[in-house]
Amino acid sequence: MPLRKKALITGAGGFVGRYLAEYLSGEEGLEVLGLDLKQPRPGGPWERCDFGECDIMDRERVFSYVESFRPDYVFHLAAQSSVSRSWEDPLSTYHIALVGQCNLCDAVRATGKEAVIHVACSAEEYGTVRAEELPISEDHPLQPASPYALSKVIQDYHALFCHRAFGLRTIRTRTFNLTGPGQSPQFVVSDFARQIAEAEAGKREPVIRVGNLEARRDFSDVRDLVRAYWVLASRGEAGEVYNVCSGKDHSIKEILDMLVSMSRVPIQVEVDPGRLREVDIPVLKGDNGRMLALVGSTPIRPLEETLADVLEWWRAELAGA
Ligand code: GDD
Repeated sequence: MPLRKKALITGAGGFVGRYLAEYLSGEEGLEVLGLDLKQPRPGGPWERCDFGECDIMDRERVFSYVESFRPDYVFHLAAQSSVSRSWEDPLSTYHIALVGQCNLCDAVRATGKEAVIHVACSAEEYGTVRAEELPISEDHPLQPASPYALSKVIQDYHALFCHRAFGLRTIRTRTFNLTGPGQSPQFVVSDFARQIAEAEAGKREPVIRVGNLEARRDFSDVRDLVRAYWVLASRGEAGEVYNVCSGKDHSIKEILDMLVSMSRVPIQVEVDPGRLREVDIPVLKGDNGRMLALVGSTPIRPLEETLADVLEWWRAELAGA
């Protein structure tokens, strides 16, 4: 029997990590080792995947896991991934981005094995783009407008540097907004869905607090996203960068309206000034042509279905399921 290919996932206990471990170990039949700061919520992929407690900043431990596991694919997701939190703590956002990625890439290099290293970068790197430059292509200049965005530009260029300088097989993705069942409520869809589910359960007033509803974002479902990550890592070109997005944008108001229309109780909306950001990119809408050339135009979940699933997840969570 041929040996199974091995995938190492950093930040594996996070939202995307869990779905990626599930997909790679399930549909693709890979042997998966996840690394993260602490043990993930049990069940799901962690019934069949290995997990190691490892801080990406701990160089010795990262080297030791990479050396003993000897992955064929590395998916580097460990990061401080909240734009708003990055304003409160820019230094650790940069630190984790650069030092963590150096540790990982150096460890892969030390094995001498030709692993593919997927680095999860972000659409935030593009910053504010003029209307006539939409949808944003991968060739658009990077103009970071938040510490988080800058931390992702650092990772992006570091991955490119490792490819050019050392021949590492790095693949970068610039991922636009994503959501899905189980996402942290610090992100907008999950935040709104949780507030609605709490109102339905009588755990709060039926008033949903919101920030800037004018912003427009390009959302993908995490379950489609992890498949795209795998196809790009396994078939993409080393050194290349790919936008991962749906190619469609929606205002946050449209998203709010869709979620409110699914509510079982009447909901009022209130703008909370504390949720308005000093800098908020008005529109992020990506050109997904380069990605689709590899991933193909397989059906992706409609946004309404994703939103309904996120709301359903919160209903179950609050009911203690
Ligand atoms: N979180 C939140 N809460 N966002 C709100 C709210 C609210 O109550 N009201 C409006 N928004 C707006 C934000 O101002 C922003 O314009 C948009 O909703 C999306 O916010 P987030 O979900 O917090 O995500 P983000 O766009 O800042 O960043 C996400 O997408 C990036 C890629 O575009 C994250 O997933 C990043 O990790 C990712 O790289």
